[in-house]
Amino acid sequence: MFTRIDHVGIACRDLEASIARYTAMFGLTLLGRETNDAQGVHEAMLHVADAPGGFSCVQLLEPTRPDSPVGRFLDAHGEGIHHLAYGVDDIAAALAQLRDGGAQLIDDQPRHGFGGSAIAFVHPHSTGGVLTELVEAARR
Ligand code: CO
Repeated sequence: MFTRIDHVGIACRDLEASIARYTAMFGLTLLGRETNDAQGVHEAMLHVADAPGGFSCVQLLEPTRPDSPVGRFLDAHGEGIHHLAYGVDDIAAALAQLRDGGAQLIDDQPRHGFGGSAIAFVHPHSTGGVLTELVEAARR
């Protein structure tokens, strides 16, 4: 089902400071910043390495408001790993397969992700406590 680890999402309180840390410490390349109002996040995607199914990234997430999902996560857990995202070729097919297998989906339908991608989340109840995201990259 999966083509790669697409990204690891990391919750932070200061996006610019986190971008500076990850680029300086690990030499990651900033691909871009976006604000996703529907999800209540300012986000940055940083390239880690090319992978057979695309490439892998770190996604830094700063909440736009305290009552957003990432804002509540920061309140409860502080900064740190927020979710794990796998790449898929066909997100609709992957969601159907997971639903048929009894997985608890947060998103029945894909929604808009970074860079024109389609994303959907699987509830941590189904994955041993890991908020899990599927990513179908934008068609180029
Ligand atoms: Co993500």
